[in-house]
Amino acid sequence: MKFFIDTANLGQIQEAQDLGVLDGVTTNPSLMAKEGITGRDNILKHYVDICNIVDGDVSAEVIATDYDGMIKEGQELADLHEQIVVKLPMIKDGIKACKYFSDKEIRTNVTLVFSAGQAILAAKAGATYVSPFIGRLDDISTDGLNLIAEIRHIYDNYAFNTQILAASVRHTMHVIDCAKIGADVMTGPLKSIEGLLKHPLTDIGLAKFLEDYKKGN
Ligand code: G3P
Repeated sequence: MKFFIDTANLGQIQEAQDLGVLDGVTTNPSLMAKEGITGRDNILKHYVDICNIVDGDVSAEVIATDYDGMIKEGQELADLHEQIVVKLPMIKDGIKACKYFSDKEIRTNVTLVFSAGQAILAAKAGATYVSPFIGRLDDISTDGLNLIAEIRHIYDNYAFNTQILAASVRHTMHVIDCAKIGADVMTGPLKSIEGLLKHPLTDIGLAKFLEDYKKGN
């Protein structure tokens, strides 16, 4: 399973990159705003800054919600850097735009996916990635991980090439469960990645090794 970090914070992206396990980055307008990145030019520059830190795919979301606007904006994003993946909302014009970009071999990520039916449409439109939001489903007492399992089953039935990008991952157990189910990618905050490091027996064991080493030296 690929690890993407879901943030526009350059420091955290660098930290995950330095850990050596980062495969890409996802962003959205809320994450950009959280970092205080506003204005079209600043946002575009920030995408390039992110691409210069990581080696993998960087999702950049369109703001337009009409077909022509998404095509124009998506093309502008794709032209920014070869690592950019055009992120499109799961709406009718978003699916049409996905098909357009897919025919042009421009990579896409269909976002705000909350049902298996939406995931089927994204795959049929040739999306590179589909982003089901598991944490937000959990927030409304619906099993987000079950949606990942449903999409995995459906995509395997038809050998769809669209990669399942489990999004709105909130914690380490989401990461582990997504890996068990067979999500292709997970995107989460830095803490969901670094949390995987932790085990008290590792800390206790290491302290004991060092203590025993000191006794003999
Ligand atoms: O990847 C989607 C993500 O940014 C949404 O996460 O935690 O706001 O539901 P969250």
